[in-house]
Amino acid sequence: MSQRTLVLLKPDAVSRGLAGEIISRIERKAGWRLAAVELRTFDRATLEQHYEEHIGRPFYEPLLEFMTSGPSLALIVEGENVVPGIRALAGATDPLQAGPGTIRGDFATITRENLIHASDSEASAEREIKIFFPSHA
Ligand code: PPS
Repeated sequence: MSQRTLVLLKPDAVSRGLAGEIISRIERKAGWRLAAVELRTFDRATLEQHYEEHIGRPFYEPLLEFMTSGPSLALIVEGENVVPGIRALAGATDPLQAGPGTIRGDFATITRENLIHASDSEASAEREIKIFFPSHA
């Protein structure tokens, strides 16, 4: 089933020069393609919308502090089963639980700096695309 999803390459991915490697892994999957790409330092208001379900959680403030610390890349990716597919490619939230061959498993060591966000459902993808790419909603 063709889907679209919202992917964020977090500030650590950009500052460590891993954006190209991560995009390359995404692009090599058969039938997946980039539909939008933007480099931007996110403001707090945008992230408050994006992470609204996590308000009040102990990781909320560290997460927003990290996500506003430098430029990120926002992407829309389209293709067959791309919503669960990119979650699988990313690996578990905690890089220590992420398997080898996944982006977090291969390149990350701590949960805060875990390189990538990907929408967890088609409904989340549509909500998140509206926040980061209103012209593609
Ligand atoms: S939950 O409980 O399953 O809903 O939460 P989870 O998906 O594991 O995490 C939600 C997002 O919070 C990020 N996170 C953190 N950021 C910074 N510091 C700490 N300690 C931390 N713990 C979790 C996690 O990476 C998720 O961000 P996204 O952007 O959705 O991957």
